Formats: sequence, C-alpha cells, structure tokens
Amino acid sequence: MARMDGKVVIVTGGARGLGAAACRALTSEGAAVVVTDVLDEIGSKTVAEIEAAGGTARYQSLDVRDADAWSTVVRQTVDKFGAIDALVNNAGVILPKTIEEATVEEFRSVMDVNLYGAFLGIQAVLPTLKSRGGGAIVNVSSNSTEMIVPTSTYYAASKAALANLTKTTAIHAALKGYGIRANSIHPGPHATEMIESVAHLPHIAAMRDAVPLGRFGDPADFGQLVVFLASDESSYITASEFFIDGGMTRVSFASPRD
Ligand SMILES: NC(=O)c1ccc[n+]([C@@H]2O[C@H](COP(=O)([O-])OP(=O)(O)OC[C@H]3O[C@@H](n4cnc5c(N)ncnc54)[C@H](O)[C@@H]3O)[C@@H](O)[C@H]2O)c1
Repeated sequence: MARMDGKVVIVTGGARGLGAAACRALTSEGAAVVVTDVLDEIGSKTVAEIEAAGGTARYQSLDVRDADAWSTVVRQTVDKFGAIDALVNNAGVILPKTIEEATVEEFRSVMDVNLYGAFLGIQAVLPTLKSRGGGAIVNVSSNSTEMIVPTSTYYAASKAALANLTKTTAIHAALKGYGIRANSIHPGPHATEMIESVAHLPHIAAMRDAVPLGRFGDPADFGQLVVFLASDESSYITASEFFIDGGMTRVSFASPRD
C-alpha cells in the first residue's frame, strides 16, 4: 500500500516549481491531487505529465485571493473525489524591496497571495476536513522567517505571518478535537524556475556555497516532506515548523568548510 493511497489533496500554485514537485510526489504515493494555479496552460500540462506517469490528478484554475473560487474548488473536489484529506497552501509571490523602497499597495499585493490566500484556503476546507474527522494542512512558508535579507520586506513579513497562522490553526483544531493538523514548511533556496533564471548571478553562487550540504534543494526533496506532513505518518506532529534548507538557516558563518 502506498503512503497516500485513498487520500485527496488540494495543492495551490501546483503548476510548476515546488508545487508541481509536491503534486508529483503525492500522486506517486497514491493520492488523488487537485492541482490548482493561475497558470492554466502550465497546470494542465503538469496534470497530463502526472497522468502519463500513472497518477491521478485534475487541474482547476484557482486564484487563491478569490474566496468564491475557493468554494468552487472545494465543492468540485468533493463532487469528483468524495472527500478532501489535505490542503497544501504553496502558492506564493516574491517582490524584493527594502523598507525604504516599499509601498503600501505592493505590500498588500504580496500579503494578499502569501497570507490571505492561505487563510481563505484554510477556511474553505475546514468544514470538509471536520466532517471527514480529520486532515492535514501544510503551509509553505520560507526560511526567510529566520534568515533576514534587507529586500525581504514584504516576503519575510508575509511568510512569518503565515507560520503563525499555521500554529493558531493547529492549536485551535487540536483543542477542538477535530483531528486536523497544521504545519509549515520553510524552504531554503530550491532549484526552481525562479532560481534557475538568476543562477548566473554571483550572489546566487555565493548563496549555494553557504549551504552546508553544498547544493540548492531539489524540488523532489520538498515533495517528500509534503508527503510526510500530509500523510498519517506525521499524525503526532502539529503546529511545527520544518526547515528544508541543507542546514543553511542554522549555520554560523564562522563555521568554515574543511
Ligand atoms: N524556490 C525557493 O527557493 C523557495 C524558497 C522558500 C520558499 N519558497 C516558497 O515555495 C512556494 C513555491 O515557490 P516556487 O519556487 O515553486 O515558485 P514559483 O514561482 O515557481 O511557483 C509559485 C506558484 O504560485 C502560483 N501563484 C502565484 N500567485 C498565485 C495566485 N494569486 N493564485 C494561485 N497561484 C498563484 C504561480 O503561478 C506559481 O505556479 C512559494 O510559496 C515560495 O514562496 C520557495
């Protein structure tokens, strides 16, 4: 029996990058996955690839900022697959600005996706998870909650808030006895389209050298962590933060390589 057999999972921002890797890992472990994104063409292609590999997936367009669209996705997922067992709030945007360059409008635009998008998703799936007697919520934060760069004004604030939204959700659900767990994943740099497109820049190479394990994360590594947190294997884990970063967040720069 595969680790996610019989489970139904909704993944946001699942068209490409880390989200697509999560969808591939979940389906290869037997889950039925609803791949959602605003990139409809790429998302449909991701679903076709998963199906070609023998997985079960369905693409549904979803802008995570849209509460009505969330209701539709939840309803159609239950109609199609009969249940929802897990939600992976992975959709995210980054807009590098220092506090001096920042504007209220841009700040709101990042918070709308990274924080309120996840909030809307949690509220949308909670009644279904409750009626199912449990489930898992996996929120994709970032190691920028601890590793500070000056241009992360919007991004780091949104991801830190998401990490705490995860914990309040987790503790509320636990104390209510809902059987619903919530955890956050905090990736360091992973080799997605985003990083690949700037891989030639000197500070990216320096960043790679700063990772104690000596490489950027492979999105497949991230996919395995999502499977663990979405599955019953993590049934005693809730309100926790998982750093997947090759040791980068914790290393002291006074620790040279041999
Ligand atoms: N790649 C990294 O190094 C890294 C590091 C730390 C955290 N993260 C986080 O991991 C997640 C995935 O990042 P990625 O590297 O795969 O980036 P990515 O840009 O390749 O993927 C993000 C996905 O989110 C989707 N998206 C954006 N706005 C949306 C919206 N309003 N509604 C629905 N979908 C929307 C995009 O279309 C895209 O498919 C993000 O939350 C990101 O902040 C990534």
